[in-house]
Amino acid sequence: MKAVVWHGAEDVRVDEVDDPKIEEPTDAIVRITSTAICGSDLHLYGSKAPGMKQGDIIGHEPMGVVEDVGKDVTHIKPGDRVVIPFNISCGHCFMCDQQLFSQCEKTQNRDTGMGASLYGYTHMYGGVPGGQAEYLRAKQAHYSPIKVPEGPPDTRFLFLSDVLPTAWQAVVYADSPRSGTLAVYGLGPIGLMCVSIAKHLGVGRVLALDHVPERLQAGRARGAEVIDISSVENPSDAVKERTEGRGADSVIDAVGMESEGSLAARAAQYLKIKPDRHGALHDSMWSVRRGGTLSIIGVYGGPDPMWPLGQLFDRQIQVRMGQANVRRWTPHILPLLEDGDPLSVDSLTTHRMPLADAPKGYEIFRNKEDGAIKVVLEAN
Ligand SMILES: NC(=O)c1ccc[n+]([C@@H]2O[C@H](COP(=O)([O-])OP(=O)(O)OC[C@H]3O[C@@H](n4cnc5c(N)ncnc54)[C@H](O)[C@@H]3O)[C@@H](O)[C@H]2O)c1
Ligand SMILES: [Zn+2]
Ligand SMILES: [Zn+2]
Repeated sequence: MKAVVWHGAEDVRVDEVDDPKIEEPTDAIVRITSTAICGSDLHLYGSKAPGMKQGDIIGHEPMGVVEDVGKDVTHIKPGDRVVIPFNISCGHCFMCDQQLFSQCEKTQNRDTGMGASLYGYTHMYGGVPGGQAEYLRAKQAHYSPIKVPEGPPDTRFLFLSDVLPTAWQAVVYADSPRSGTLAVYGLGPIGLMCVSIAKHLGVGRVLALDHVPERLQAGRARGAEVIDISSVENPSDAVKERTEGRGADSVIDAVGMESEGSLAARAAQYLKIKPDRHGALHDSMWSVRRGGTLSIIGVYGGPDPMWPLGQLFDRQIQVRMGQANVRRWTPHILPLLEDGDPLSVDSLTTHRMPLADAPKGYEIFRNKEDGAIKVVLEAN
């Protein structure tokens, strides 16, 4: 089959590799129809996440049609249309019983000290062959895959694999008061869906910060008051100015370790006042009002030596974070996708292209060229 293979920094290729096959009774083979590129893939593309090996098949946002199932797999059968969550969870261990699916003890990586295994990610997370491919060996398939109805196009359901449950978790963890203000840093696919989900769940006011014009425009269209970080000296001051000097009741960092943008952040990185690429995290922290909540959904892979523990303590900030517990949130989201499109999921996909064009897809998504917000590869 053809698959997107990691060869090194900014070098992904579509290679011919062996077809996957059933190896365990809990496996399923899925013929992939659509598979998206994610901001998390950019950490691999930019070689910022340790533990990649040449030849790794990447991708963790796939959906398709079940081809074959192992003997323990009964909730799905050949011919079913399924979405595959990015984290692999067994559904019935100590952690899964508490709906902490990203910490599943069956697939946890004890040798590297990390949580549940992920598709198409680094060997810190199990090095499991990913879903940017014509076929995927779905693991823990007696539980993990989500069966979706026929009818709407793939791009309606595809984001159940990651973006939608991730954004949902970020908003729930942010715990904004209904009459309050939520600030969202980053208007990539995750931040944009945070805006729509927050509005859907009744959060009074949403501020959103980015510097890419079409992403700011998309945030505005989803109901946010947007702030262009390239036009302000200090993003957290801009948030405070709009919230009676206090800061937002809650803040979501939907940027992660690819932070870029504001003049102050660039200068601080240059002067090494802040660790490289943690600018958005620090701006997020300083944008929360006293007693408010910081929800970190952007991915971080290492320590932050500038973590202002004493000030967070004094300001009584609650901090919540982690990989999305995908299956915890999908039962809340799936009905919304079947009943019209209240979260405007359809407009998230800006580019569709054949799997063979994956290198181009990565390049335009990383460079935010051609208005790219979400790039979907069509595999079959
Ligand atoms: N926790 C999870 O389970 C989970 C799941 C999926 C994605 N993620 C992470 O969420 C983050 C966002 O993913 P995405 O797909 O939306 O990625 P993306 O790269 O498309 O979006 C990031 C956005 O942040 C903006 N940005 C950069 N620096 C900024 C700054 N200093 N202030 C404000 N905005 C800034 C960029 O312009 C971009 O629009 C990534 O770190 C990704 O790894 C986490
Ligand atoms: Zn993803
Ligand atoms: Zn489990």
